[in-house]
Amino acid sequence: MSSPVNYTLTGNIGVIRVDNPPVNALSHAVREGLLDAFETAAGDASEALLLICEGRTFIAGADISEFGQPPREPFLPDLCDRMEVSAKLFVAAIHGTALGGGFEVALSADYRCASPSARVGLPEVKLGLLPGAGGTQRTPRLAGVEAALQLMTSGAPIAAPMAGETGLVDEIIDGDLLEGALDYVRKLLADGAPQRRTSALAVPEHDPAIFDRFRATLAGKARGQVAPQAIVDCVEKAAATPYEDGAAYERQRFTELMNGGQSKALRHFFFAERAAAKIDDLPKDVAVRPVDSVAVIGGGTMGGGIAMTFANAGIPVTLVEIDDDALERGLAIIDGNYAGSVKRGKLSEDKAAACRALITGATDYAQLADVDLVIEAVFEDPNLKKEIFAKLDAVCKDGAILATNTSYQDVNAIAAATGRPQDVLGLHFFSPAHIMKLLEVVRGAATADDVLATCMQLAKRIRKVPVVAGVCYGFIGNRMLQPYAAQTQLLLLEGATPEQVDTAMEDFGMAMGPLRVFDLAGLDVGYKARQSLSDEQKGDPGSYRVPDQLVEAGRLGQKSGSGFYSYDENRRPTPDPEVHRIIEAAAADLGVERRTVSDDEIVDRLVGALVDEGRKIVDEGIAQRASDIDVVYVYGYGFPAFRGGPMFYADNQGTA
Ligand code: 3HC
Ligand code: NAI
Repeated sequence: MSSPVNYTLTGNIGVIRVDNPPVNALSHAVREGLLDAFETAAGDASEALLLICEGRTFIAGADISEFGQPPREPFLPDLCDRMEVSAKLFVAAIHGTALGGGFEVALSADYRCASPSARVGLPEVKLGLLPGAGGTQRTPRLAGVEAALQLMTSGAPIAAPMAGETGLVDEIIDGDLLEGALDYVRKLLADGAPQRRTSALAVPEHDPAIFDRFRATLAGKARGQVAPQAIVDCVEKAAATPYEDGAAYERQRFTELMNGGQSKALRHFFFAERAAAKIDDLPKDVAVRPVDSVAVIGGGTMGGGIAMTFANAGIPVTLVEIDDDALERGLAIIDGNYAGSVKRGKLSEDKAAACRALITGATDYAQLADVDLVIEAVFEDPNLKKEIFAKLDAVCKDGAILATNTSYQDVNAIAAATGRPQDVLGLHFFSPAHIMKLLEVVRGAATADDVLATCMQLAKRIRKVPVVAGVCYGFIGNRMLQPYAAQTQLLLLEGATPEQVDTAMEDFGMAMGPLRVFDLAGLDVGYKARQSLSDEQKGDPGSYRVPDQLVEAGRLGQKSGSGFYSYDENRRPTPDPEVHRIIEAAAADLGVERRTVSDDEIVDRLVGALVDEGRKIVDEGIAQRASDIDVVYVYGYGFPAFRGGPMFYADNQGTA
């Protein structure tokens, strides 16, 4: 088999090309190829070496699919050290993304040049790891301690021009990268530029208190996660000891993390997210439909956020409301959201204005005649939705995709209100829709393959993570929420308090405990939904007695200042003895003897409720695979990624 690394001489410059699609990951063959290239170059007439990559990107990191297998030489840290001591000037030319081990290879070069659109980063923390090929030691030497800590603990890549400002990139090259990089190397040679070994540089002056500051911030921001704290330890070591000692320490901490549960879970999650984008029974060559214009019906909580999502991706949106007043209200909320993004520094004023300009309002369905995709986000009323789909059927052009954002309604019944059920599906966004990454793509019984394929591809364009779900009440995520919510209420009756349940789940890693979530969403929503159900449909009275009584006492959640907690003017919760009294009275009324409930029992029963429903969802074919459920729960419901999602967590606990 031919090597993915090719070495040729261009004049006096040895050019090393890596060609390992799709992302030039540092597989064993690439590491071997790089080592061979350096050995060859050591003995030839080259005066300098240039490393460049083929395809869409520079090396995007170690090969994650090799993790967990027996390591094979050459090991990446040794390879980086070997490249760094090359007797010949060594330059890396970066395009696309130089990530993780890929960027660590570049840090071993004497100089780095990059296309202006390139991005560099050390995202290992997102895999529960730290940069393990000298990255924690070399980055602070070039960029300083604070920038290095920021880069590695966030895992977020930065654009090449910014990397230039922090000292991580030396030259930005406009135009053809190979030509420009060769010129750059020639200039370095002509100027007699010295070799510059990153590991030999001193770590710049810094405030020694910075390490504890980062530790404290990360203890809150990355609660429960081990990798971010280990990164701080390694950078502190870099500042305190010679490179060799720091590198040995880095390797020890990297190995610990690699063998630990959090990294295994996050690696599972990395591949789960990518698997979710694939539909097993869809032919690979399905032609997608063009989507260059979108309409959103209903400019409320969801419709406004959905409109912003498309506008932010450069796709023009028509927002349709019931009348001028409602339209004005909807557009004003969008204006407020954009102003907030500018204020928080998330968007520049120009960018926000350009996105906002892509959203136009309408109250007349006739304006939808030419759009490629319509997303309905009106009240959760099945008859209203069917009425709207019948209207869309009458006005929209042939081939337009008609989607509903319904949370619970039967997508097949909605499709049946049209004469083109093949063009109908669910696109279930999560609130706030312009921020939450998850998109449940609900496949109706008649949904055409190309409609599905188009929406999966579109999801990526609008920067969402799509997961396919079949039609059932609540699809994947909200269906699982029901037994989870019921179990929460049973725990309260049996002896737990709201604050104990929430703290136990937040310590487990949930972004927010269940009762705080209910208070945020509004207890009246579930209450109203239950009013239309028979006692039999409502199920165990223990699962709704307390929230019903709270609503009847005027406690609707955050919006009324009290729910399972009392809230101050900043919506900060405090435990409320009145709620404890209501719970105790409900338990007594239902004949439940209260007892001490442990935190472990809370976690086991709540996660168990999710897993049990998740298993049914997979068995029924509503989800394609168990890992899709993990993606839904991490991206849609605040389940900790470092536990891999509920199904992965369960597998690792033993299903019993
Ligand atoms: N190893 C193995 N496979 C990888 C990979 C990697 N580092 N990065 C991407 N892939 C695979 C994906 O699984 C996917 O495979 P599939 O087509 O079979 O599903 C394919 O490459 C394309 O990936 P994406 O769909 O993610 O492509 P995008 O264009 O959307 O994104 C990317 C490209 C930004 C490079 C993104 O893939 C990414 O972020 N990759 C991970 C980068 C990373 O985490 N690097 C650090 C690795 S750890 C490390 O280097 C340790 C070192 O410090 C010792
Ligand atoms: P909302 O009440 O905030 O907004 C609904 C909007 O639809 C209102 O502005 C209303 O004026 C408009 N509307 C009603 N009839 C209309 C018509 N005939 N033509 C045009 N506009 C009309 O409701 P929300 O919360 O935005 O929910 C919308 C849909 O999204 C529902 O199906 C809901 O189940 C679903 N959903 C809601 C989520 C949430 O967290 N709020 C999350 C995911 C989905």
